[in-house]
Amino acid sequence: CWAVSYPQTVNCTWKLASEPRPETYFITTYRHGMGAKENECFQPWAGARSCSISDIQMFSITPYVLNVTAVNPLGATMNLFPFIVEQIIRPDPPEDLRVSPIPGESKKLLLEWQPPSSWPFPQYFPLKYLIRYTREGANSNRMIGPYEQTSFILTGIRPRAVHHVQVAAKDFTDYGNYSTWSPLVSAADSVLRADPETP
Ligand SMILES: *[C@@H]1O[C@H](CO)[C@@H](O)[C@H](O)[C@H]1NC(C)=O
Ligand SMILES: *[C@@H]1O[C@H](CO)[C@@H](O)[C@H](O)[C@H]1NC(C)=O
Ligand SMILES: *[C@@H]1O[C@H](CO)[C@@H](O)[C@H](O)[C@H]1NC(C)=O
Repeated sequence: CWAVSYPQTVNCTWKLASEPRPETYFITTYRHGMGAKENECFQPWAGARSCSISDIQMFSITPYVLNVTAVNPLGATMNLFPFIVEQIIRPDPPEDLRVSPIPGESKKLLLEWQPPSSWPFPQYFPLKYLIRYTREGANSNRMIGPYEQTSFILTGIRPRAVHHVQVAAKDFTDYGNYSTWSPLVSAADSVLRADPETP
């Protein structure tokens, strides 16, 4: 289970160890505390391998327990998964990364991106970002950050070389995990040209 839209929803996914012949369906419920009432973890369609819990209570030290019961004509098996919401925060990767040369400035690239659109309140629950970049043809990459802003100027890069850039996001307060890396975006710096000779 991951809270990709903290604090609105927790999304849980699962797999079957082997694909049994008979159709299997799932009963998905959760409890918040011993003896609390069972609530439905909502599946987007019957037979889905994911469900989501909304109505999350923030900063609760009482674990939630997800109960996924797989049912088919041969029987039923139950799996319990306890979690604390703040420990499973993991945003989706940042979106709309743009990497551009800065006119007239060599050895620099401007990076700009957006918080993931699935993160509902970036103004109240800010994110921090890591930047990973590599030069085309190089076999290692560099990682810098975390930074709180959604833009950054990379400096000191090799002139004229294409650089590949990615960003990842994490809850600002350091709860949970970093997102996966955003898709690669590539660019080279602005090439400085000698001024044309004045006649
Ligand atoms: C949960 O995540 C899965 C996999 O990323 C996705 O297919 C599904 O639509 C999500 N479900 C909800 C309710 O957000
Ligand atoms: C899990 O869910 C199944 C199906 O609803 C139910 O029979 C079982 O009692 C539940 N187990 C626990 C520990 O909540
Ligand atoms: C999430 O972070 C925890 C603690 O840092 C780590 O043990 C775990 O492997 C991470 N999980 C993923 C999927 O990255």
